[in-house]
Amino acid sequence: MALPNINPTTTNSWKKLEEHFEAIKNIHMKDLFAKDKNRANTFTVKWDDFYVDFSKNRITEETFKYLLELADEVKLKEAIESQFSGEIINQTEGRAVLHSALRAPESYNVKVDGENVIPEVYQVKRKIEAFTKEVVNGDRKGYTGKPFTDVVNIGIGGSDLGPAMVVDSLQYYKNHLTTHFVSNVDGDHVNEVIKKLNPETTLFVVVSKTFTTQETLSNANTIKSWFLKHASANDIAKHFVAVSTNIDSVKNFGIDPNNIFPMWDWVGGRFSLWSAVGLSISLAVGYNNYDSLLKGAHKMDKHFKSEDFGSNIPVVLALMSIWYNNFFGAESEAVIPYSQYLNQFATYLQQGIMESNGKSIDRNGNSIDYETGTLIWGEPGTNSQHAFFQLIHQGTKLIPADFIGFTKSLHGNQDHQDKLISNFLAQTEALLNGKTKSDVVAEGTKEDIIPFKVFQGNKPTNTIFINKLSPESLGKLIAMYEHKIFVQGIIWNIFSYDQFGVELGKQLASKILQEFSGEVKNEHDNSTSNLLKYYKENA
Ligand code: F6P
Repeated sequence: MALPNINPTTTNSWKKLEEHFEAIKNIHMKDLFAKDKNRANTFTVKWDDFYVDFSKNRITEETFKYLLELADEVKLKEAIESQFSGEIINQTEGRAVLHSALRAPESYNVKVDGENVIPEVYQVKRKIEAFTKEVVNGDRKGYTGKPFTDVVNIGIGGSDLGPAMVVDSLQYYKNHLTTHFVSNVDGDHVNEVIKKLNPETTLFVVVSKTFTTQETLSNANTIKSWFLKHASANDIAKHFVAVSTNIDSVKNFGIDPNNIFPMWDWVGGRFSLWSAVGLSISLAVGYNNYDSLLKGAHKMDKHFKSEDFGSNIPVVLALMSIWYNNFFGAESEAVIPYSQYLNQFATYLQQGIMESNGKSIDRNGNSIDYETGTLIWGEPGTNSQHAFFQLIHQGTKLIPADFIGFTKSLHGNQDHQDKLISNFLAQTEALLNGKTKSDVVAEGTKEDIIPFKVFQGNKPTNTIFINKLSPESLGKLIAMYEHKIFVQGIIWNIFSYDQFGVELGKQLASKILQEFSGEVKNEHDNSTSNLLKYYKENA
């Protein structure tokens, strides 16, 4: 069964939201809080170790009611069912979308083309487990008989960002292995990594769903050549493993078939860290932690699938985002984790969110005349407070923000933790209330400076408070955003699981590359011709 394909702007709830928006667009959240002492409780979801307060949004109970009606009218419930049951919801590529199956219990039965995929998933998980144990315990050795000390993940996009973000986020749980990531085709990237490596003790994990990606194959070949300066071709089997759906190409690259970790076309690249793409995660933090990450994501899957929409965290967050994107005209959203460990989280989300929902054709094949995909950006607090917060507080743009914090710190330094969390709480309070002219006057500010010190406030935030950063809670958090992406795609009536928009640039790059060797001459616009000429003259 295909996904529903309802233009959201034609629904009754959308029309109600448009009218309602006109009525409440200038209301200050401060007044909503003053009127209703219970507001925070009304707009908070407590689930497991998550406390999600969305009361600091420019909504009333009426807004929320219409947004929930919108979710019903676009048949979100049916769409969720279609996704989880393995229907071909990635219609433009003719594929199911089943990253949820990768973290499902072994007892589940999830069918693709009539075939239960769970046994295969568990076969690969067991292979990951056994391999991880051998490498971490030092039983698996390099070509000179030494145990491995370093792991290099060679991949890009979904084959890099997820593992890189998780390994960085879970560094508290890391073992003795040092993990490196090589992604960019910029040779300076791979060479900087190579500089740090000893070929005798390094394991290379080549990750590419398609095994055709220029960046990954170039980097893998460069590394292979460097490795072969030290070792022989027979040693490749000990040092190179691959994760891919394209088994033949992996074999042609020279990787031992026993060292291939398969994945499936029903796993999208940007949702693939739960598959063997997460091998470098498992190697870095051990299989049990990797499994906890998956278990956390599965808990979020169950919540998403079964919870009423009014208290369903991914649904609520998606609806808030729709409200600002489509009614207030907000263009971007910030994600601000108050944890240095989540340094790469926003970068990771950029692919998930923008590659999925950066679309302008609807599920009927028509051009869209409403806004879709949000721009996503962010950096950890408190660093970001000293960087771009000025613009969020006093700029002209409306930037809804997710504040993510953990009630417990991992190293247990309470002094730092209290300072961190006081900032975390203070920022959303400041964004809500702002600072009035009379407050500024009361501080004795000089007359001509007063306007510059006023804060309008009324800036929306969601506060996502989690007990502790652990593999399990990180799994929940990532899955939460994955489902938010899905809900928004359903409401916007777009296909969230293809990415044709990345192809054109790739095609043109390979044509231009041929011109560098002088074999071919292509027609270009005047600007590109000049730039090409400039490069040739100055390279
Ligand atoms: O950038 C496009 C893209 O196809 C992403 O969706 C994907 O994650 C990335 O390239 C890498 O692809 P592969 O894993 O096939 O090398």
